Amino acid sequence: MQLQVRGLGKTFGGLHAVKDVDLDVPQGQITAIIGPNGAGKSTLFNLLAGFYRPTSGTVTFEGKDITGMKPHRTVREGIARTFQTTHLFQDATVLDNVLAGCVVRSRSNALDAVLRTPRHRRDEKASREKALEVLEFVGAAHLQDEIASKLPQEAQKRVSVALALATEPRLLLLDEPAAGTNDEETEAFGELIRQIVARGITVCLVEHKMSMVMNLADQIVVLDHGQRIAAGTPAEIKRDPLVIEAYLGAHHDKAGARP
Ligand SMILES: Nc1ncnc2c1ncn2[C@@H]1O[C@H](COP(=O)(O)OP(=O)(O)O)[C@@H](O)[C@H]1O
Ligand SMILES: [Mg+2]
Repeated sequence: MQLQVRGLGKTFGGLHAVKDVDLDVPQGQITAIIGPNGAGKSTLFNLLAGFYRPTSGTVTFEGKDITGMKPHRTVREGIARTFQTTHLFQDATVLDNVLAGCVVRSRSNALDAVLRTPRHRRDEKASREKALEVLEFVGAAHLQDEIASKLPQEAQKRVSVALALATEPRLLLLDEPAAGTNDEETEAFGELIRQIVARGITVCLVEHKMSMVMNLADQIVVLDHGQRIAAGTPAEIKRDPLVIEAYLGAHHDKAGARP
């Protein structure tokens, strides 16, 4: 298993946002995490990427214990995430946003930058090439000089994926990548996710659009009230009575359009 989560928990005051969650993410696959609003999906991602420190449990990535590691370290370990609402540098250009992701893999330090050493110039060139490559990959190369906040939602989501890819992750956590996009854009996002996996990157996906999840996921994990209530293939999940009661019954395919 590339990622192994055992007994993971997070409380906020008295609320168990995530409770005793086990999760196994196999390398090179798409694992979807579904569940009603407030089920703890985003909190789980925040725990994996180190934005929150778990109250209990362990996270092991490629055999290494990364429990409680901060985001700047988990990203160097090879885990990147995108956010439910895009977290771009609003006033910066698309290219500068993606270059910020490249910094993670840059070897030159602040002194190299100030002195403009050959190492820094080499690094700068490599970062630029990397940024343009990932922008091309997500289909946003033509937007490189645009100001991020001026772009439509769908384009911002693509740029967020490019920023995450610029950090050269081996595991990518996507939090509702298709939220706020129309059917055609959702389909295109599904295709992009397949291409990401074809690049050798493992994907964990939180998504409300059930048709997308059912089409893409190798395995689905269902959370409800912070707890894992089911796990299995899309076919198994579709006919699981607990899941139908907790989730599919109340939320049909357009649940992504909730407030
Ligand atoms: N930073 C926080 N402080 C307090 N409560 C939080 C915080 N983040 C999430 N929660 C609570 O934890 C629960 C799970 O939230 P979340 O992980 O965002 O759910 P989901 O992504 O599945 O919709 C919710 O009840 C939410 O209100
Ligand atoms: Mg969420």
